[in-house]
Amino acid sequence: ASTLGEAAAQSGRYFGAAVAANHLGESQYVTVLNREFNSVTPENEMKWDATEPSRGSFSFGNADRIVSHAQGRGMKIRGHTLVWHSQLPGWVSGLSSANDVRSAMNNHINQVMGHYRGKIHSWDVVNEAFQDGSSGARRQSVFQQRLGDGYIEEAFRTARAADSGAKLCYNDYNIDDANAAKTRAVYNMVRDFKSRGVPIDCVGLQSHFNSQSPVPSNYQQNIQQFAALGVDVQITELDIEGSGSAQADNYRRVVQACLAVSRCTGITVWGIPDHYSWRSSGTPLLFDRNYNKKPAYDAVLAAL
Ligand code: XIL
Repeated sequence: ASTLGEAAAQSGRYFGAAVAANHLGESQYVTVLNREFNSVTPENEMKWDATEPSRGSFSFGNADRIVSHAQGRGMKIRGHTLVWHSQLPGWVSGLSSANDVRSAMNNHINQVMGHYRGKIHSWDVVNEAFQDGSSGARRQSVFQQRLGDGYIEEAFRTARAADSGAKLCYNDYNIDDANAAKTRAVYNMVRDFKSRGVPIDCVGLQSHFNSQSPVPSNYQQNIQQFAALGVDVQITELDIEGSGSAQADNYRRVVQACLAVSRCTGITVWGIPDHYSWRSSGTPLLFDRNYNKKPAYDAVLAAL
């Protein structure tokens, strides 16, 4: 195989990229997107602030542009994301009664998933609901504060009813180390959901790596332990700071870890060329600013 998407497809997986609607008019960007990737994740366009900036008024224009680009080329689409504390409009964080937060959350899930019903391969239903550090506690947010722990379960149940064909994922960062407190907390939640029949199909490991949070030595074991709960694992926002052969080695390890676990079903990198990365000062992606393939690209292609 000569492209990332084709190489991943040899083992039944996808290889995707986060895509921004405002770059879809750039010919180099689109050339590489269409050549290399068979899945897309809208980088910001499906977030709450973009899709429901004021209560009950929905705007899907930019997300629709990405969806139609992907659909026209047979690419899968990951929906990102429905319930998250960040990029959340002020009207939601300002809601003060539990009933209000509950109806806003469920309506948002129903409207956004309903708009895209049948088109989305996997949805990140809830994003980043746990705190960093050793507590394993839930992150404070308007959802946690007003609804308590049960909001995550409620979001997944609502999501299943809204689009029964989409895989429903819990997505987070710093849950890559098999033994970290945050990982254990997410693991325990997923185990509980599976044991009680709460609908969850996948765990998304964002996998943003840098010198402060490198690829853990037990990364493959971590993927394996989630898979053993009966959910798929997807690597959803991969980027790795660095350059040259060190960066390439780290990318290779991530790809090899996913390929070693049959329920690790796909990998998404969080952007295409380095200069469009959210890590604006870094070089964490597979293509340089001139869209040349980096050593990390060659390592990934060879490992797939
Ligand atoms: C980032 C986008 O890449 C940026 O463009 C935006 O300004 C902030 O959000 N975890 C997530 C993603 O789940 O949605 C975030 O994306 C990166 C961290």
